[in-house]
Amino acid sequence: MLLAVLLLLLLPLSDPRLAHGHPLYMRLPPSTLQALSAQGTKVLQAAQRSALWAVNRVAMELQHRLHECRGCGNTTAPCPGPGRPRPQGPLLQDPPEPGPCGERPPGTVNVTRAHGRIVGGSAAPPGAWPWLVRLLLGGQPLCGGVLVAASWVLTAAHCFAGAPNELLWTVTLAEGSRGEQAEEVPVNRILPHPKFDPRTFHNDLALVQLWTPVSRAGAARPVCLPQRPREPPTGTACAIAGWGALFEDGPEAEAVREARVPLLSADTCRRALGPGLRPSSMLCAGYLAGGIDSCQGDSGGPLTCSETGPRPREVLYGVTSWGDGCGEPGKPGVYTRVAVFKDWLQEQMSAAPSSREPSCRELLAWDPPEEPLAAAATPCAFYAHLCPGPPGACARPAHQQCLQRRRRCELRSLAHTLLELLRGAQELLGPRPGMRRLASALARPAPWLRESARHPVREQRLHPGSRAAGARFPKRRPEQRGEANGCPGLEPLRQKLATLQGTHAWILQVPPEHLAMDFHEVLADLGSKTLTGLFRAWVRAGLGGRHVVFGGLVGLEQATLARSLPRLLVQALQAFRLAALEKAEPEGPQIGARQERGLGRTSHHPLSPRVPPARP
Ligand code: ARG
Repeated sequence: MLLAVLLLLLLPLSDPRLAHGHPLYMRLPPSTLQALSAQGTKVLQAAQRSALWAVNRVAMELQHRLHECRGCGNTTAPCPGPGRPRPQGPLLQDPPEPGPCGERPPGTVNVTRAHGRIVGGSAAPPGAWPWLVRLLLGGQPLCGGVLVAASWVLTAAHCFAGAPNELLWTVTLAEGSRGEQAEEVPVNRILPHPKFDPRTFHNDLALVQLWTPVSRAGAARPVCLPQRPREPPTGTACAIAGWGALFEDGPEAEAVREARVPLLSADTCRRALGPGLRPSSMLCAGYLAGGIDSCQGDSGGPLTCSETGPRPREVLYGVTSWGDGCGEPGKPGVYTRVAVFKDWLQEQMSAAPSSREPSCRELLAWDPPEEPLAAAATPCAFYAHLCPGPPGACARPAHQQCLQRRRRCELRSLAHTLLELLRGAQELLGPRPGMRRLASALARPAPWLRESARHPVREQRLHPGSRAAGARFPKRRPEQRGEANGCPGLEPLRQKLATLQGTHAWILQVPPEHLAMDFHEVLADLGSKTLTGLFRAWVRAGLGGRHVVFGGLVGLEQATLARSLPRLLVQALQAFRLAALEKAEPEGPQIGARQERGLGRTSHHPLSPRVPPARP
């Protein structure tokens, strides 16, 4: 509807003009510019909400850390480690040794009914599965997972097909047995099994490293990993749990569901499921009569079997992987055999941090010094190891390589933000065929819209008063400053917060009353039609007193115009961001400095001397 109005406003276009022997140009009429400005303003508002949310999250993390430190100061127990990347921090279960793992809270143990089921189901009592986690892509739950150590979650590799970017994923930990709220932790690294085959689901296993290890104060606890490469005997009743669908193509469960399923022999599995079942890395479990099974959305979740003894423990033997329908007669569910991957798991979880390329999250959280430091102290240590020369000669090239990767990560994260903005713009302008291709699939609200709805309390903390958060957060109370000494990890979080405020300053600093985008002119070069039917255009736009000129592509026919407008909005945002960065750093920002020349920098219209003024 909105789009239809927009298109009506557009037609007829102003006359094409010939500029002193130069190519023909066409201006979009004022009515179109107005409509574009109105949409731009909405996108700006959404971008500001998103920035507030991001800053807010870290502010909460900081508060949480402070809170933890205050708590641990009162006891004789050592303070928990800092809330920053600490891949090799003290693990709850130090693999491969079995630690305090696989213990379920009292009162939840005997409740797993023999005939409860995920398909059709029975709800698990709160906190019954302390290792069960949820993997969220852009805030949307997609798979289950199993906590196997303080910083590690085991899940199915197929969950990441098409979305391997760790910056997009978070993990929700188990809730407490009194229903205490589950914590959401960002993902630091995704390690799919190197031999995972997405066609056959062979080796369907991935390790996910959490950004912060789970704290002992919370409800989350790791499950035990098998110590031998063999499962318990056929017929053993093991447990499955998850939030997956209640029946094939059905809705997802609102609370965790659980069921007991017997392990089946490799022969039975092969007969039931055919050659797709590869017993070397898959096992199957369930009832040939059907009715009780895992289902879509349960993937990555646990299949655990109890080990009896003085202290009963749950051991993880399977990770939910695939099935032929859900709960169909003769079609048991298929699980990745965890026991045969014991060595790979152990190797990955105990690898030295410097043996892996730093993750984007690590690099983005790192404040690179001007000059290379002792490489071992930075996330760049990995690159120093790669360098063939003597350590002294390696510091600089390693630092450079590391900075380069950091810039790629910045672009990746920026690309993600822009894509989300594009999706936001798509929602505002209505779906167009071209847009669907651009902002692929996932029909869901942009994360900032969802999140601000889901975390009203967090939003409010930053929203009282009309000023943006950037102006409020840097202030530290004196007592907080004092506590930093006794609270490891507090300072890095403060720095992270300051950095985040810096990167979002361009939008956070715009007071809400000036949060309006104003498209002054879109001038299309009629001689520059591209293969996709778009024309090169110069765009002049203003935001809260700042003006930018940037180059873009615009369509001049109904369909192509509709397709090009959201992208213009995104480019305008990018131009404002770059212009603000440039103002903050007159030497030129590190990212996209070259692009910037062509996009947002010019303060005068590059073509204006050659183009005749528009007729009234
Ligand atoms: N592949 C599914 C998922 O991604 C899990 C299916 C399990 N199906 C079954 N019948 N057990 O969630």
